[in-house]
Amino acid sequence: MSEKKQQVSRRQFLNYTLTGVGGFMAAGMLAPMVRFAIDPVLQATGASDMQPVIDVSEITDEPQKVDWTFEQVDAWYTSDTTRSAWVYKNANDEIVALSPTCKHLGCAVNWAGNSDYPDQFFCPCHDGRYYKNGLNVPNTPPGAALDLFEMQVEEGTLYLGDVKENPVTSPEEEGGA
Ligand code: FES
Repeated sequence: MSEKKQQVSRRQFLNYTLTGVGGFMAAGMLAPMVRFAIDPVLQATGASDMQPVIDVSEITDEPQKVDWTFEQVDAWYTSDTTRSAWVYKNANDEIVALSPTCKHLGCAVNWAGNSDYPDQFFCPCHDGRYYKNGLNVPNTPPGAALDLFEMQVEEGTLYLGDVKENPVTSPEEEGGA
């Protein structure tokens, strides 16, 4: 019985060696590029972070506009972003923080912006109106209630985050939470 010798020819040896070394070098060059390309996407953005906006002791039952600026990281781009909210305490002494963005076409609403409706939010673009809890007044252009900000209170300071849908369904509800 003859034994077959398994021999590697010089050509095969060179092929294996060059393929191995070439692959190793290519991986070494590509890894940093891939990491550079996708790393910012994998990192959390600052958009959903809670931001300090006002001392709770300054909040009254009258809606007041608060503005705050924070650094927003959007993949490779970092920018200063300014946001606003209408903040007040409802009859249950709970804080309500409403988005100022009109749900019709996105203009900014103002509290008591129309002297005919001193207890409502008013949008000057198309005369949109909202009750104090953010619910849109029927037969005015907006088709939904003003959004609510997610909030938390820490050491006497109000922090606001992203907006969410406002669940109010009637003007009598206090809103918030
Ligand atoms: S954008 Fe506010 S009513 Fe049209």
